[in-house]
Amino acid sequence: MSFTGKVAVVTGGASGMGAATVKALVEAGAQVNLIDIDRNGAEGIAHETDSKVFIGDVSNSEFCDQTINSIVDDYGQIDILVNAAGIILRADALETNDDNWKRIMAVNVDGVFFMCRSTLRHMVNAKSGVIVNFGSIWGDVAAPGAAAYCITKGAVHQLTKALALEHAENGIRVNAVAPGEVNTPMIKSGRDRPPTPDELQDLANRTIPIKRLAEPEEIAEVVVFLASEQSSYMTGSIVPVDAGYTAR
Ligand SMILES: NC(=O)c1ccc[n+]([C@@H]2O[C@H](COP(=O)([O-])OP(=O)(O)OC[C@H]3O[C@@H](n4cnc5c(N)ncnc54)[C@H](O)[C@@H]3O)[C@@H](O)[C@H]2O)c1
Repeated sequence: MSFTGKVAVVTGGASGMGAATVKALVEAGAQVNLIDIDRNGAEGIAHETDSKVFIGDVSNSEFCDQTINSIVDDYGQIDILVNAAGIILRADALETNDDNWKRIMAVNVDGVFFMCRSTLRHMVNAKSGVIVNFGSIWGDVAAPGAAAYCITKGAVHQLTKALALEHAENGIRVNAVAPGEVNTPMIKSGRDRPPTPDELQDLANRTIPIKRLAEPEEIAEVVVFLASEQSSYMTGSIVPVDAGYTAR
């Protein structure tokens, strides 16, 4: 798959699956613009991959508009948007306070919506473009102890489908990946302490049919496919990449 001449934007590109996606797109020839709230992480990946970096919070719609407009000013177009930025909240509904609820909705739902809206304005003019959002297995099946997170990912799945329908005749495709348990910093965060390797293997043995976590690159491969012409007949799809987790 060649992305030579393509301009891509990846949010959450400083870490985990976003960083793996930045690397894969750069290797395939794309000019990548990385957006993240974590300056150190973002500058490290940008330096490694020779991508351009924008530091900010995707839950701020003005930041999204300004950043996307400036990328279009620089390159004349955005061909690919990947929304990987996200946060987790490991709390059941009764433990979820107002601030935590508002923050996870702001980052995981507002952030994806604002980035899509800012970018679609330009893609509609160009009558072409591809968006890949990061949903989750938990946007489809639920899990106890992460109510707000499950709700945000369900919203991302529906946002993906609604935008796909709204822009099907504009030459724009909108899909999402729904990863299972992936070996990124997120899987260790939001807990009393990071899980040990044995505890992660135990989680895999209990919940994942092929009994191992995914590596971020295994999800990025699917994101790159969805961003490419090879998936030209796909829009509005939520693609599980979960080793059979949701097959049961
Ligand atoms: N790790 C998993 O098991 C898993 C499973 C399914 C879905 N996901 C989803 O995949 C996506 C990537 O997750 P990951 O595991 O690579 O996580 P990660 O924590 O490694 O990376 C997330 C990135 O998003 C950035 N970010 C967070 N809030 C932001 C904000 N407000 N503005 C800009 N950037 C922000 C972080 O700084 C970080 O670089 C997320 O949307 C996550 O919900 C993760």
